Amino acid sequence: MFDFQQFPQINPPQRLLMGPGPINADPRVLRAMASQLVGQYDPVMTGYMNEVMALYRQVFRTQNRWTMLVDGTSRAGIEAILVSAIRPGDKVLVPVFGRFGHLLCEIARRCRAEVHTIEVPWGEVFTPDQIEDAIVRVKPRLLLTVHGDTSTTMLQPLEHLGEICRRHGVLFYTDATASLGGNVLESDAWGLDAVSAGLQKCLGGPSGSSPVTLSPAMEAAIRARKCVEQGIRTEAHQDGADEMIYSNYFDLGMVMDYWGPERLNHHTEATSMLFAARECARIMLEEGMDALIARHELHGRALLAGIQGMGLTVFGDISHKMNNVLGVMIPQEVQGEEVRKRLLEDFHIEIGTSFGPLQGKIWRIGTMGYNARKDCVLQTLTALEAVLNRLGLRTVQGAGMQAAWDIYDGANG
Ligand SMILES: Cc1ncc(COP(=O)(O)O)c(C=O)c1O
Repeated sequence: MFDFQQFPQINPPQRLLMGPGPINADPRVLRAMASQLVGQYDPVMTGYMNEVMALYRQVFRTQNRWTMLVDGTSRAGIEAILVSAIRPGDKVLVPVFGRFGHLLCEIARRCRAEVHTIEVPWGEVFTPDQIEDAIVRVKPRLLLTVHGDTSTTMLQPLEHLGEICRRHGVLFYTDATASLGGNVLESDAWGLDAVSAGLQKCLGGPSGSSPVTLSPAMEAAIRARKCVEQGIRTEAHQDGADEMIYSNYFDLGMVMDYWGPERLNHHTEATSMLFAARECARIMLEEGMDALIARHELHGRALLAGIQGMGLTVFGDISHKMNNVLGVMIPQEVQGEEVRKRLLEDFHIEIGTSFGPLQGKIWRIGTMGYNARKDCVLQTLTALEAVLNRLGLRTVQGAGMQAAWDIYDGANG
């Protein structure tokens, strides 16, 4: 007989998640998620949807009307924007400096784009000139960028690219999943046509909802592909002049009409995730976006000082590193996975591994969102120093943690 008792109620251990995301969710977000559901078209619910739009305009620093949530993880937001914007045969340019640039190529290929790439070694970023030269050569319809690529911990400067895209008539997208909230991102001032994010990094929530924002130019490109599904379609619904969007769920035309006054009956909004996203934004705006970014900068700097203070080497061009994730070269004296295992089992602290060309070469340590805190950084450094010494790498124990502490005491002084 099936014994359901072997599956007790979920009771996960208390971990400190100091990897590249997910991180521990802010308890306020978890409490918001535990709220009872309301109906999809209850005025209370549609009111919450409007509030979410207003809140995320502040987070993305935009006036874009179409600032809303795509239900699904960050990849859902990316895929919704790409499949809605890219017509089969469109040329796109992707500057690849890590795994998530490759992800943009992969999704664009599935949208049947003609994908062009430029690449720099992992650990570096592009200059605006390198990107403009490629735009001149390729003449793409869209430029697809990653703002912070967690695989390499690098932050691509975007502030000059919008003007370049405007001059060349290119639509400009960035994946800000890992950077939003922890690093400066100015959607309007930088001329971005579309940005997507996720909750599980600097926003301090769980994964499963993807905030996105679309400029009027991006809206026009999507509206030109309008096609409302049979069953909810009325005579008022006219098809656009361009080819339809080859996804139903990710058709941002229908998603806009669901979030807009028409309240088109597309999907059923993931209510608990909307509650989470709403609380993430409230928490961020209560602190203020500038203060939030400054907090990530401080804790990122303290972590960097601590890692260098214990004699470890940092990965990549640190003048372009994200505030919220640090790549650390795994010293030859220890096995990277053994260190991670000891940290998890003995200290309940998780740090990140790596993939692609960096697999087995670096750890990635994050300090973001709810975990961008002094106690989290000092605990992680202390535990890492202890584990390294336990496994045979001799350091002056405490030196790394003291170096980080100096940063905090300096910041207070
Ligand atoms: C830069 C970037 N883009 C996209 C993703 C994919 O996010 P998700 O796993 O939420 O779909 C991640 C996740 O780590 C990321 O760091």
